[in-house]
Amino acid sequence: MVSEASETTVKSGNVTARSMAPMLWPFVRPYCWRLAAFLAALVVTSVATLLVGQGLKMVIDQGLIAQSSASLRNAIVFLGGLSFVMAGATALRFYMISWLGERVSADIRNAVFTHIIGLEPEFFDRYPSGNIMARLTSDTTLLQSIVGSGLSLALRSSVTLVGALVMLFVTNIQLALIVLVGIPISVVPVLLLGRRVRQLSRQSQDSLADVGSYAGEIIQQIKVVQSYTREAQERIAFGSNVERAFDIAKGRIQYRSGLTALVILIIFSVLSVMVWTGGTAVVEGRLSGGDFGAFIFYAMVMAMSVATLSEVYGELQRAAGATERLMELLATESAIQSSSLAPDSEQGSCGALCFNNVTFAYASRRLVPAVCDFSLRVEPGEVIALVGPSGAGKTTLFDLIQRFYDPIEGCITLAGYDLKDYPLHTLRAQIGVVQQQPVLFSGTIKHNIGYGRSQSTDQALEQEIIEVAKSAQAHDFIMQCPQGYDSQVGEQGVRLSGGQKQRIAIARVLLKDPSLLLLDEATSALDSESEQAVQTALTELMAGRTTLIIAHRLATVMHANRIAVVDSGRLVALGTHQQLLAESPLYSRLARLQFNGGEYNKTLLES
Ligand SMILES: Nc1ncnc2c1ncn2[C@@H]1O[C@H](COP(=O)(O)OP(=O)(O)OP(=O)(O)O)[C@@H](O)[C@H]1O
Ligand SMILES: [Mg+2]
Repeated sequence: MVSEASETTVKSGNVTARSMAPMLWPFVRPYCWRLAAFLAALVVTSVATLLVGQGLKMVIDQGLIAQSSASLRNAIVFLGGLSFVMAGATALRFYMISWLGERVSADIRNAVFTHIIGLEPEFFDRYPSGNIMARLTSDTTLLQSIVGSGLSLALRSSVTLVGALVMLFVTNIQLALIVLVGIPISVVPVLLLGRRVRQLSRQSQDSLADVGSYAGEIIQQIKVVQSYTREAQERIAFGSNVERAFDIAKGRIQYRSGLTALVILIIFSVLSVMVWTGGTAVVEGRLSGGDFGAFIFYAMVMAMSVATLSEVYGELQRAAGATERLMELLATESAIQSSSLAPDSEQGSCGALCFNNVTFAYASRRLVPAVCDFSLRVEPGEVIALVGPSGAGKTTLFDLIQRFYDPIEGCITLAGYDLKDYPLHTLRAQIGVVQQQPVLFSGTIKHNIGYGRSQSTDQALEQEIIEVAKSAQAHDFIMQCPQGYDSQVGEQGVRLSGGQKQRIAIARVLLKDPSLLLLDEATSALDSESEQAVQTALTELMAGRTTLIIAHRLATVMHANRIAVVDSGRLVALGTHQQLLAESPLYSRLARLQFNGGEYNKTLLES
């Protein structure tokens, strides 16, 4: 599970904090006036910070050394004024950048979700859902916190760094040169170790995502886990996942703390050299006390900026990793593309469905085709049953009809047009499916039955929902639920029985009223009595529609116009029940087993 998950996560790319800007720009652009306000506030606060140095110089030279209390008062008033400006601008800066951080990550979250739900199912076979969820939540959160604080700090530090450097040169060139040599030395380790930090940070996000998907799967299947009393093993397996994530994170933290220590040491060495040189100059009368004070202040500001930058640099690398992962998802193109070559109308609904030498293999099993050289023509209004052993490829055929996958060879046509030429929504709007394992969503029963219709508040719709529920033999049990049609079904419909879920799924497809009906073991979870009744409803529904039925119980398919026998992805026989009994060894074997089995059961019951 772990290895599978990490196999699918993409290798760390060569993204840098710098390349983050172009990736993020499309999301920031709509709010560029806020960005401008932030930048303006940033410049104001930085200038104000630097002016504090001048205030300090006034305090020392004009106030302290000249022993003038008037000048001292002026200097204090100047500093006081500065503090007001700084307070206001800082508040504005903080508000703007935090707002941007929240807004941009919300927009990205939305964009990613909007994008991925349009991707082909094969994508979700490759990416564990927990991994995608982690990207949607933790990566965007990381981005938000870093844009909102790290980026702000980085920009502020860069601006003050440059400003302080300029002021250093203005104040004293000789001392400034010392600082100028010191800075590149302190930046070197940041650049060297920063890359490693970035790699580790991406790995650590990936392994966290693995932890998430592992937990997700276990929690979802908790009954199976407990029934096999696997709790202890799962705890250990989960624990080792967590530890792996922790180890990677630990590596990252080690690098970063080492980095920070190194930078501080270098900076303070430079600072000592400078204080010594400057102090000597003051003692020898070559430099005023005020200039020296201001100089120390600027040097400190600069040192702090560099320290902040080196710390934030690692954070920005993490954000770059997160951004890269999100952009990767956004850049994934669906293998199933919608087209509009075929008429965007009801035309397909009255045409034949035709498989022409279709071959298909799942990406994870390219060598073993699930469907192989399959040809079948289903006339409009015809009812065709698909029978065959488990794993023969019946459900896969249904998936191909809905274009969840595209054939590798051959094509499927509807009303003479290749399925690939239909707009996806037109194609799928014509198809109604009852799946082998009916899937419900958390929400009310009403919501689930009306799922195929968007306007679910309509009064008329409510009436229709009740009608289809009656046809699907679901009305009675729904009325016994605590809130009737407004009862919650629970996550994935856990509060309903298998047969109840199936009837809701049938009601849902009855309401959709499609022209092509695909029933995959639609009545398998029902007792004979309700199956009979649902069958009547389905027969009514099938009238005038092209229908494909998959059923293991031959009794339910005997009334189809024709029966197609599928084995190992191939069509091995086609005909009516009687024809097949005579012609198809596989079919007559299946039939014999079932009907003889039935008699055997009957004798058992009678005895
Ligand atoms: N998502 C998938 N990825 C890879 N292989 C798959 C996938 N889904 C199904 N298969 C494989 O494709 C083959 C056909 O599966 P399919 O679900 O179509 O069988 P089926 O005829 O519907 O069987 P059953 O009667 O048991 O439902 C099987 O061998 C199965 O293991
Ligand atoms: Mg199946």
